[in-house]
Amino acid sequence: MARRRPLRRSGEKRHAVPYLARPPTAAVVSLDARAAALDELREGLARSPREIACKYLYDDRGSQLFEDITRLDEYFPTRTERGLLEQRGVEIVAAAGGAQVADVVELGSGAASKTVALLDAALQAGGRPRYVAVDISAHALQRTREILTAARPEVPVEPVLADYTRELHLPPKPEGSRRLALFLGGTIGNEEDAPAVRFLSRVRAHMEPLDFLLLGANLVTDPAAIHLAYNDPQGVTAEFNRNLLRNVNALAGSSFVPEDFDHHAPYVVEKRRIEMWLVARRALEIDLGSIGGKVRMRKGEGIRTEISRRFVRDDVLRIIDAAGFTPERWFESPDGRFGLALGKVRSSLRGF
Ligand SMILES: C[S@@+](CC[C@H](N)C(=O)[O-])C[C@H]1O[C@@H](n2cnc3c(N)ncnc32)[C@H](O)[C@@H]1O
Repeated sequence: MARRRPLRRSGEKRHAVPYLARPPTAAVVSLDARAAALDELREGLARSPREIACKYLYDDRGSQLFEDITRLDEYFPTRTERGLLEQRGVEIVAAAGGAQVADVVELGSGAASKTVALLDAALQAGGRPRYVAVDISAHALQRTREILTAARPEVPVEPVLADYTRELHLPPKPEGSRRLALFLGGTIGNEEDAPAVRFLSRVRAHMEPLDFLLLGANLVTDPAAIHLAYNDPQGVTAEFNRNLLRNVNALAGSSFVPEDFDHHAPYVVEKRRIEMWLVARRALEIDLGSIGGKVRMRKGEGIRTEISRRFVRDDVLRIIDAAGFTPERWFESPDGRFGLALGKVRSSLRGF
């Protein structure tokens, strides 16, 4: 059993998450069996339009670049969600079981700096939460551990290096505890409804009645602000997008030259989503290495690398309901840009 350090007195305020110097570069780790990754890349690149799944954005450098993005003035979602968690964390944890919330599992934890507000709320409720961080990026997990260990040493951290779109193995729940699963950052918006529901249903399979899901979603707001968030003038998001090709080259030995592509990230109003593309600056012939074959691209042809949807409240509640969670509470940022849905595990699935 993990040894726990003494708890601080409840009510004591500790807002700041320490900023840690960049960690040394960790090895690029993906738990995807390489063959499965190559199949997935082959299949995506053969589609029309061509696609590369957004999980390939997150090698070591990609995870660091994403963390850099979250600190940009233009990128409001992280700030907005953090504010909401800080303002409503106590209510959220109380509604999810208060002191009984002893197993906080975050899917796609990233640097996890926002999650501290929820762990604090559980500590204040008199609980002794453990934090299970699931991420495809070893670098992100290393950052999670560093940030949380420095910020809240009394909370044990269990990293799980995994691709949550494939098989998910979680450590068993501590006996008698309630599990609170977190899927934050608006990452649910990377999927269309049907795969989002399938994914959350698989998460639910790791949960029991009285367990809860907290799902964060970007909400429909001013298109110009959304556009700017993905098109920062410093070019950090562009670099994050192009870096995906470096990751694919490292994985497959392909010959993409990131500088041959423009970052293009329009907000598509009728689909209520940002689409990130890499668009060929000239006619290209790319050797796909172990993916097999070559890709010929015309000047102006694109590869879609991410969708990031904006929702209205009822869309989000419908998705969690269809995945087997009864919507219990809805928390929205005062500017209406971000929402958190709290759903309780239901014993039956309703389907979609
Ligand atoms: C948009 S970031 C959000 C990070 C953090 N939750 C936040 O709210 O700031 C997505 C995170 O999910 C991870 N991720 C993306 N696809 C994944 C997958 N298929 N399996 C596990 N983790 C994944 C990435 O490495 C990254 O840390």
